[in-house]
Amino acid sequence: MKALILVGGQGTRLRPLTINMPKAMMPVLNRPFLEHAIRRLAGYGIREIILTQGHLSQPIEGYFGDGGQFGVSLRYVVENSPLGTAGAVKNAEKHLGDRFLVLNGDVFTDLDLAPMIRFHRERKAVATISLTPVEDPTRYGLIETDPSGRVSRFLEKPSPDQITTDMINAGTYVLERRVLDGVPPQTQWSFERQLFPSLLESGQRVFAYPSPAYWMDIGHPKDYFQLNIDLLKGRSSQHIPARPDEVSLGEGSQVDETARLTGPALIGRSCRIGPKVTMSGPTVIGDNCRLDEGAIIEESIIWHDTHIGAGTRVVRSIIGEGCHIEAGSIVNDSVLGDNVTVAAGHRLKVGSRVWPGKTVGGEDKGDDTA
Ligand code: GDD
Ligand code: MG
Repeated sequence: MKALILVGGQGTRLRPLTINMPKAMMPVLNRPFLEHAIRRLAGYGIREIILTQGHLSQPIEGYFGDGGQFGVSLRYVVENSPLGTAGAVKNAEKHLGDRFLVLNGDVFTDLDLAPMIRFHRERKAVATISLTPVEDPTRYGLIETDPSGRVSRFLEKPSPDQITTDMINAGTYVLERRVLDGVPPQTQWSFERQLFPSLLESGQRVFAYPSPAYWMDIGHPKDYFQLNIDLLKGRSSQHIPARPDEVSLGEGSQVDETARLTGPALIGRSCRIGPKVTMSGPTVIGDNCRLDEGAIIEESIIWHDTHIGAGTRVVRSIIGEGCHIEAGSIVNDSVLGDNVTVAAGHRLKVGSRVWPGKTVGGEDKGDDTA
């Protein structure tokens, strides 16, 4: 069976992290999010994967190539303008078989695919939608089912007074190709707001497959952050490039003997952790990072090639690639895009979101948030 992964969204809620990088390429434990998803599909014996892309397609193709290195064969279908979730699948229709899997490209899940596919076949469904329980269904697609597990209602982003269940669309579908007959070609079309409701209206067999397996949509910085924490704490059963609850150190990295590192933490390759650095987990440090003397890092995610100056303090923050957090500065509860400089001694406003390439603090007194 082939799988199609939707990776064409703009990642708006994750800005500034997604200005230069597609959401699917954001590092999770120092490897692109999508790599986890592709390795998982390969583990199920799924060898042919179609990636439907829009915004920022080059970084994905540049990293994954033909997929051979990851045990799969990849095909890229690029949209000139966003076609929406169902429109994107329609656009790739000629590459799909009679039955296929569709995955939202920003969901990390341990959902067991084999029984879901079996369930779909046994029910003779045209579409089977995976479900997961969440605390706040208003952020997702709410799904009501009848006692036989058949979907009776689909409500995308319900308002609080419309909540009747905590079960939502978990973003993995098994579909029969004929459902795409209801999608006009080259037209923006949504599974959630158009195709699924219309299948229900016409009485087609749409089933729900609930699962308590680990699940996280990384659409918001706090969810992206939480996924990294959960993985470091061993809350998913998938193989990860770190030892749960410990400090894992990448090849070629050096830690000064006076540094104090408390896990769980993952430090990438070729990092330099200087004297008297204090790191308290959960923390992820990318490849080629340098942490100078006395820097304090608490519960933070730092991407590749970033420099943390002496005596700085970084707490509960996400720092993009190639940043310079200069000596003595303080970054708290903030999200910094790529190549940001925080000038020496600057105390960044709590809750800042800093756009790529900006310098904040110092003589030019740059704005913290734009
Ligand atoms: N190719 C392509 N083209 N992909 C798209 C497009 C498009 O026009 N629009 C969105 N996508 C991709 C996104 O990149 C993402 O991987 C996936 O489709 C879902 O889009 P999101 O923007 O992340 O949607 P959401 O998180 O608000 O809601 C969706 O996911 C929830 C579960 O995580 C819906 O499917 C909800 O019903 C669901 O509960
Ligand atoms: Mg999402």
